[in-house]
Amino acid sequence: MSQHARITASVYTSHVPAIGVAMDQGRTRDPYWQPLFAGYGPSRRWMDAHRPDAIVLVYNDHANAFSLDMIPTFALGTADRYEPADEGWGPRAVPTVHGHGELAAHLAQSVIQQDFDLTLINRMTVDHGLTVPLSLMFGEQPAGATGWPVPVIPLAVNVVQYPVPSGRRCLQLGQAIRRAVESFDTPLRVQVWGTGGMSHQLQGPRAGLINREWDNAWMDRLVADPRGLAEMPHLDYVREAGSEGIELVMWLIARGAMADLDGGRAPRVAHRFYHVPASNTAVGHLILENP
Ligand code: DHB
Ligand code: FE
Repeated sequence: MSQHARITASVYTSHVPAIGVAMDQGRTRDPYWQPLFAGYGPSRRWMDAHRPDAIVLVYNDHANAFSLDMIPTFALGTADRYEPADEGWGPRAVPTVHGHGELAAHLAQSVIQQDFDLTLINRMTVDHGLTVPLSLMFGEQPAGATGWPVPVIPLAVNVVQYPVPSGRRCLQLGQAIRRAVESFDTPLRVQVWGTGGMSHQLQGPRAGLINREWDNAWMDRLVADPRGLAEMPHLDYVREAGSEGIELVMWLIARGAMADLDGGRAPRVAHRFYHVPASNTAVGHLILENP
């Protein structure tokens, strides 16, 4: 048994805010939402059986904690706690997100020494980009819960204001996170989550754009050809998956943290799900286990 931390799995999911509203208002069995939540049933059972000791949750803030005043490309949360953000209609009634200070400090040290110039965050709130994936994977939390079941280290990526990082850089960051986790001398099981996407465009003449074929081909390649997929230019995302489809580059960070990008074996697909519609977006979801 290794005395070091290791990455056991990666989880990928869209983060549509209306999913959080549906859960918070008890509408998950409505005909509109039922098929979507059915797709996350296996995910919750899988999570019960594969609960990690910490999650590195790659997501984007939507001008809630950050603004155009300051635009960090990659920002790692090193705080002990993060409260849900008020996105305009009051904060979601979900638990405080607890960090993992020791692992976060180690990731900061190791990843920065691997030449990624991370921004470090000691105080922020977290918006739907982070809380909706937690809700999807862990389900409704009991009233009065003081925290989520697992500590979370937020990794916020700028995919809102151009220039945004390339897919290649995201994949490389995932590889650096893998090396960082594996050099932490406590035997923690760590998952890396990549969130956002799939195809959606929230504004302009193409608002409402959905591209099922492209989304599914993109997920195929994420599993089978991550290095090739990481070379895809931003323009392809925006043309094919809409302006907000660019959120998908964040999935490449989680994918880069898997064993096969480090000479190991290919991951096992534990679950895959795709559904339209959910608000204005296509919802994609994958769970990959390291062998
Ligand atoms: C919607 C989707 C998003 O990813 C987001 O960040 C905001 C809104 C939507 O479908 O409405
Ligand atoms: Fe978003």
